[in-house]
Amino acid sequence: MTSPILLTGGTGTLGRLVLRRLQESDRHVRVLSRRPHEPEDGVEYVTGDLATGEGIDEAVTGVGTVVHCAGNAKGDEATTRVLVRAAVAAGARHLVYISVVGADRVPVVSGVDRAMFGYFASKRAAERIVEKSGLPWTTLRATQFHDLALTTVRQLAKLPVIPVPTGVRFQPIDAGDVAARLVELSLGTPSGLVPDMGGPRTYDMAELVRSYLRATNRHRPLLPVRLPGKAAGAMRAGANLAADRAVGHRTWEDFLADRLTSERGHGAVDHERV
Ligand SMILES: NC(=O)c1ccc[n+]([C@@H]2O[C@H](COP(=O)([O-])OP(=O)(O)OC[C@H]3O[C@@H](n4cnc5c(N)ncnc54)[C@H](OP(=O)(O)O)[C@@H]3O)[C@@H](O)[C@H]2O)c1
Repeated sequence: MTSPILLTGGTGTLGRLVLRRLQESDRHVRVLSRRPHEPEDGVEYVTGDLATGEGIDEAVTGVGTVVHCAGNAKGDEATTRVLVRAAVAAGARHLVYISVVGADRVPVVSGVDRAMFGYFASKRAAERIVEKSGLPWTTLRATQFHDLALTTVRQLAKLPVIPVPTGVRFQPIDAGDVAARLVELSLGTPSGLVPDMGGPRTYDMAELVRSYLRATNRHRPLLPVRLPGKAAGAMRAGANLAADRAVGHRTWEDFLADRLTSERGHGAVDHERV
């Protein structure tokens, strides 16, 4: 019997999709979560917290491959250090990490940079921990998921006037496209830093906001805002884009239409009235 794959973040947006695909490939998966879950077909859950280290030694025991999808908006430097230390001690054979396009190109030098774009520096720091772990590793950088773009425009649409950063473009990608690639990499041999993955098209924030307003039949004035700092400058120069790696299939428009239809089917329409 092959050793189990440990999947961190297997309850999150990306991780759930990775889990489904690993299940389809008949792999035994161990999912780490901070909350207990009932086991499923081919899936065991272990309770642990990468912020405190609790339960992590048990989670890595006997695993061959570790797929690290746990993270949060502040990044995952400290939690990656905890995971890597345990995975090395347990003798894991392949560490797979999901990072973000621009991790190495968005300079975070001032407090302003850190407040707005510290996530990128933290992802780069976590990448370095993976690279220097001594374990065979694979890192994939992806652009922002459609889900994140939707969460962002939804929050902005609650405001009477919507501030939109000028000059910054986004290339949202479907988390399902990223999950498929991550599983392919996880089941393959360690490959180091692999080519970036970006969505099929780029948009400025105003386009993303307008498409959401249109789809939910709302009207709001937009207020262009120029973000200060070096990191914002790098974003305006396209540091977060993978224009030559626009390999994602599902468009933002298709994602948005499908998601809103599905939510309306579940009765979640009230918050979208004008
Ligand atoms: N979202 C994007 O646009 C985007 C783009 C590129 C790369 N990424 C990267 O992709 C990864 C997944 O992102 P996502 O948007 O799918 O995340 P998400 O939906 O917010 O899910 C976060 C996951 O991390 C787990 N987690 C958080 N803190 C933890 C801790 N202290 N200990 C153990 N588990 C913890 C959560 O598990 P429990 O709640 O069950 O404990 C949850 O499964 C992250 O590394 C992110 O940086 C995201």
